Amino acid sequence: MGTKLKLVSSTNNHNQSLAIELSPWKILIVDDEDEVHSVTKFALKGYKFADRPLKFFHAYSGTEAKDILSTNDDIALILLDVVMETDHAGLELVEYIRCTLNNKISRIVLRTGQPGQAPEKKIIIDYDINDYKEKTELTSQKLFTLVSASLRSYRDLVALEENRKGLKKIIIATADIFSVDSMKHLAEGALDQLLSILRVKKGNSFYGRRIDALAALKAGTSFEILAGTGCYSSQNKDGQTTLDQFPDIEKIINESSDQNNISHSNKIVNYHKGRGGHENILYVSGDISDEYIDRDLIELYARNVGIVFENLDLYKQIEETQREIVYRLGEAAETRSMETGSHIKRVTEISTILATKLGLSDEDIEIMKHASPLHDVGKLGIPDAILNKPGKLTAEEWSIMQTHSQLGYDMLASSDKPILKAGAIIALEHHEKWDGTGYPYGKSGENIHIFGRITALADVYDALGSKRCYKEAWPLADIYRHIKEQRGKHFQPEIVDALISNIDHVEHILSEFAENV
Ligand code: C2E
Ligand code: SIN
Ligand code: SIN
Ligand code: FE
Ligand code: FE
Repeated sequence: MGTKLKLVSSTNNHNQSLAIELSPWKILIVDDEDEVHSVTKFALKGYKFADRPLKFFHAYSGTEAKDILSTNDDIALILLDVVMETDHAGLELVEYIRCTLNNKISRIVLRTGQPGQAPEKKIIIDYDINDYKEKTELTSQKLFTLVSASLRSYRDLVALEENRKGLKKIIIATADIFSVDSMKHLAEGALDQLLSILRVKKGNSFYGRRIDALAALKAGTSFEILAGTGCYSSQNKDGQTTLDQFPDIEKIINESSDQNNISHSNKIVNYHKGRGGHENILYVSGDISDEYIDRDLIELYARNVGIVFENLDLYKQIEETQREIVYRLGEAAETRSMETGSHIKRVTEISTILATKLGLSDEDIEIMKHASPLHDVGKLGIPDAILNKPGKLTAEEWSIMQTHSQLGYDMLASSDKPILKAGAIIALEHHEKWDGTGYPYGKSGENIHIFGRITALADVYDALGSKRCYKEAWPLADIYRHIKEQRGKHFQPEIVDALISNIDHVEHILSEFAENV
């Protein structure tokens, strides 16, 4: 149990990867004076920020600038003249960038040749204009400071934005905890955040750095990849979803010794082994040796992600275990009565379809789905001689048989768990009839819980179609004739209508279980 975090020293071509040119920062110069373009470019010759060079784009009017901006959404800095084709062409462009393109991230520095053209403070604040300079101020030294400060804040804004996206995925995953995909969403969110801490855009090459990362969870004997970027992204691993194909990673995880030179490392492996056989891995490799990258933060984050994964996994396991136990309890009752086929499964499916068609809330549908297998759980308390009697029951036997409703209720009613409580109601009321002639209480109409009314129809529909120890299976036409005849008597009219108008859907679902019969 616990977390093993490894910083693995460079063993392969790390030096080679340093030789790769990192992608440049894009800078857009917008000015109607040709000289301003050449002077700016000259003053910044050879300049690099965070190892990355500059790439210049040139526009000589607001209109030209719009064209460039509409095809480049990753311009880091715009050096912008105020007066061009019109007195306000520069400010109009700012409005276009911030409002029309909704680009809040590119940094904007206004430059003007005419002193006194400074825009109002309100405009500077509202449009997030990051600096205002007179062109005479643009000495090499001042430009250097200006560009460095702008690129630094651009870089941090991009990281924040990526971080925000990662957080959003994590929040969605957390809210959506019951869905099959929630582990995947959580893993994707975790990797997004990790890459934003590393200041790499997802997809890997925003900064020209090569970074590959994956999150994997132990499933059976191998690790299943939940999310990956770079060479581990779903497009790049040929439909492979397990870690078996990456023996290097498995080897690293299995190594126990730990003699790493952190300052030269290009891998981070967080292996977390938790309770209940839970194991997960967060793995990052590539150009992460940068001295500016905050390793402590990454390690802390990776550890936390490992623990969150474990908790979510355990939580899901408990949920699934509970549901399975409930289901198996219903199945046990069915097996005792030697009913052929998958009565429980089919009643559950039909009930779920009916609940959906009748417009029950998602939560009620979910509860109903897991509770309806319990409708006949009380048959566990009925003597074998009655339950499996191959013919018609005597009056006395029949009255004993009818107690299965109350018996099922008594088994479940003291629970405070929503599914078991619903199961108790369904067990008690699934033989009540809409017209009040059912048992055990002779309840009628909406005094019978909606779960009971729905299960009543699903149960009879399936029982009629099945062979029992006391009866043969009915032909489909007879079943529908009977159900229509019982509309408003045994069954609520709306529920009969919901079944009749969705016959195809119901029969299709049932045919999927036919092989088990
Ligand atoms: P079950 O076999 O699961 O049947 C559920 C319900 O389907 C029955 O509830 C009844 O409403 C309907 N149903 C099943 N077969 C027929 C049929 O041939 N004709 C009609 N009109 N309806 C049918 P019910 O009647 O409350 O019975 C509850 C449970 O009691 C049944 O569950 C079954 O386990 C048992 N049972 C009922 N009648 C007999 C019987 O004659 N012999 C035996 N051994 N058991 C019986
Ligand atoms: C700096 O922020 O001053 C250096 C660039 C970097 O952090 O990568
Ligand atoms: C019975 O009276 O045997 C039960 C009613 C039925 O299954 O139709
Ligand atoms: Fe029953
Ligand atoms: Fe039944």
